[in-house]
Amino acid sequence: GDSPASGDKSASKSDGASSGDLIVVGFSQVGAESDWRTANTESMKSTFTKENGYELIFDDAQQKQENQIKAVRNFIQQDVDYIVIAPVTETGWDTVLQEAKEAGIPVIIVDRMIDVSDDSLFTAWVGSNFLQEGYDAVKWLAEYLEKNGRKDEQINIVTLQGTIGSSAQIGRTDGFAEKMAAYPNWTMLEKQTGEFTQSKGQEVMESFLKSYDDIDVVVAENDNMAFGAIDAIKAAGKTCGPNGDIIIISFDAVAAAFDAMIEGTMNVSIECNPLHGPRVAEIIKKLEAGQTVDKLQYVEEGVFPAETAAEIKPTRAY
Ligand code: AHR
Repeated sequence: GDSPASGDKSASKSDGASSGDLIVVGFSQVGAESDWRTANTESMKSTFTKENGYELIFDDAQQKQENQIKAVRNFIQQDVDYIVIAPVTETGWDTVLQEAKEAGIPVIIVDRMIDVSDDSLFTAWVGSNFLQEGYDAVKWLAEYLEKNGRKDEQINIVTLQGTIGSSAQIGRTDGFAEKMAAYPNWTMLEKQTGEFTQSKGQEVMESFLKSYDDIDVVVAENDNMAFGAIDAIKAAGKTCGPNGDIIIISFDAVAAAFDAMIEGTMNVSIECNPLHGPRVAEIIKKLEAGQTVDKLQYVEEGVFPAETAAEIKPTRAY
């Protein structure tokens, strides 16, 4: 529901970061770990331009929360108009957000969520329903096994998890676990983090393939780890995808995932939408106009199986 915005800043400020009439936005980005993240950065940078009335101060935290906390403190020091954070992990934000609150700077959280004791420490959040994405993965797999006459088979699964403690990891892991409980013939052999990167995804998959010779399904908590897993599977002399030995379930649905599905090495990618720039700008516009904003905004997302990939790919924006 609606809730009043905290912080009260006017559009043009004469103190702090000198910017003329531009609205100064400090954005602390997670890093550059995935295609998704690149698309997200691009969406933010192409939205928060001078032409659109903004001065963007961009910081890449290289997947480290300590770097994000430093960046936010810098933004406070520079007295920016808005702080936008794509948080690496959910916890650990109370102190620095208290500092932002005391400085009167509104904080907007984007993509992953934060877990704070006091909700007034941020003004609004926009991002994905990661738990739903995990549910969608199980739903797709159950239907796929049924369609292929395998619903009563023993199904062995491994998971390449994202950054532990990030909403994207927590939601996808928990959502999958919760719904797979309804299928007693599915076994989760092992879960390990691949840090959302292709190289770590490949490394972890190599070790899974050494430990288990009976893997039926890989759940990769993002596309880039799936690409690494596909390479590891090929290198081990196995096959994957709709006509292969191993089913690949992935998340994000970036352009390269559509290529993998068209090529036949990936079965499905569950969408995670990175195009948050205009959504954050919309929130800022409302705050500037003194309007209230929704505290939580979930974006709509789809499920893209291999059989529709060729048709859908030309319509995709990232
Ligand atoms: O938080 C969104 C996740 O972060 C995406 O699934 C992943 O690719 C990115 O690194």
